[in-house]
Amino acid sequence: MTGALSADGLAIRTGEPGTRPRVLFVSHTGTMSGAELVLRDAVRPWTGSTAFLFEDGALADVLRGAGLTIRLARRGSGLSGLRRDASVLRALPKLGRLAGLALEIARAARACDVVYANSQKAFLLAAIPARLVGRPILWHLHDILDGAHFGRAQRIVQARLANLCAARVVVPSRAAADAFIKVGGSASRVSVVPNGLDLDLDPRSPAALRAELGLPAGPLIGVFSRLAPWKGQDVVIEALARIPDLRGIVVGTALFGEDAYAARLRTLAAELGVADRVLFLGQRSDVPRLMQAVDAVVHPSVDPEPFGRTLVEAMLAGVPVIATDAGASAEILDGGAAGTLVPPRRPDRLAAALAAVLADPDAFAERTRLARDRARTRYGAAGMQQALATLILETVARA
Ligand code: UDP
Ligand code: GLC
Repeated sequence: MTGALSADGLAIRTGEPGTRPRVLFVSHTGTMSGAELVLRDAVRPWTGSTAFLFEDGALADVLRGAGLTIRLARRGSGLSGLRRDASVLRALPKLGRLAGLALEIARAARACDVVYANSQKAFLLAAIPARLVGRPILWHLHDILDGAHFGRAQRIVQARLANLCAARVVVPSRAAADAFIKVGGSASRVSVVPNGLDLDLDPRSPAALRAELGLPAGPLIGVFSRLAPWKGQDVVIEALARIPDLRGIVVGTALFGEDAYAARLRTLAAELGVADRVLFLGQRSDVPRLMQAVDAVVHPSVDPEPFGRTLVEAMLAGVPVIATDAGASAEILDGGAAGTLVPPRRPDRLAAALAAVLADPDAFAERTRLARDRARTRYGAAGMQQALATLILETVARA
């Protein structure tokens, strides 16, 4: 990781160890998806703080490595499997454990100055305990509270609870802020802090990278997201089937139990006769290199994307990006000036956009340059860390 602002610079701005506020970071999952990668980078200035995690896993290791004290919930394991739009009836058998967990969070919160909930479930469980022990709570809401992702009752409960308990609600995009406000969330509490990240890029040519990675020559596209129905990898396979000789890599795995969808993608490729042209690479730790090796990156989410780190990664990698116009994609890609926007669930439109990029890559060079500059100036890790640190400090000061 490289950052324009050093960790020392951030340490000074958040106060010296011992004088800076003690933050309790709360997460319901131990699995690393985008929200947890953001948390990994956000905690950098907060060494010596504590993370309360519902379950053990990769996130615990990463946060421990960042100098945080880890408290693992005694009653948390398995709760991340509770569907986020589960009805009260489904949650009922777990109520005893949820109450126990809330008590554990209250105790941990009392030892800190501010609570930072990094997920919807973390906020739902920590909001009332934090307020009961008199600690302000900040909710980093990585979701879009709209009808595609949540039932109406769920959305309203979340917005009301936020209005009642959250000192601040942080969202990664204007699209996520608008959805929160539309369902009744208080506009004055919302702060948009775009996700920020830095990439270590490989200086080698795409051809050299392909040779090293064992990827084929010829037209090659990539899709880089966990496998889930709303991420829309099936639409890419359908689009690819419309372009002879085009190959695609599908990077990522089903992180949250979407195994049936993962299996369906393989069946779909076989049914469309393109099984030999779609390479499933599984979960990878070398996404930037893979992105640099392909001719175009597709971000095909069929439901509104709250942010989409992979979009920014592709922009930084200097590869043409084609994204569905749903959620934050348009604001990240400057309304299409820094990439190509296509309607969601339209393999025909996606295929046409892909064909255009592959036929004349030079025509897209200016957009790709603009995308890289935009990602570097607006979506860097240091900017995000500083903006989040400022909000945490303001929240403590107001309390
Ligand atoms: N990612 C990864 N390996 C994979 C697939 C994805 O490291 O095989 C990373 C990807 O580079 C990105 C993150 O997972 O940084 C996904 O974040 P995003 O915000 O795009 O989506 P989310 O999965 O959180 O909805
Ligand atoms: C969530 C969203 C994704 C976002 C990430 C980090 O996982 O689905 O769009 O980039 O959180 O905020």
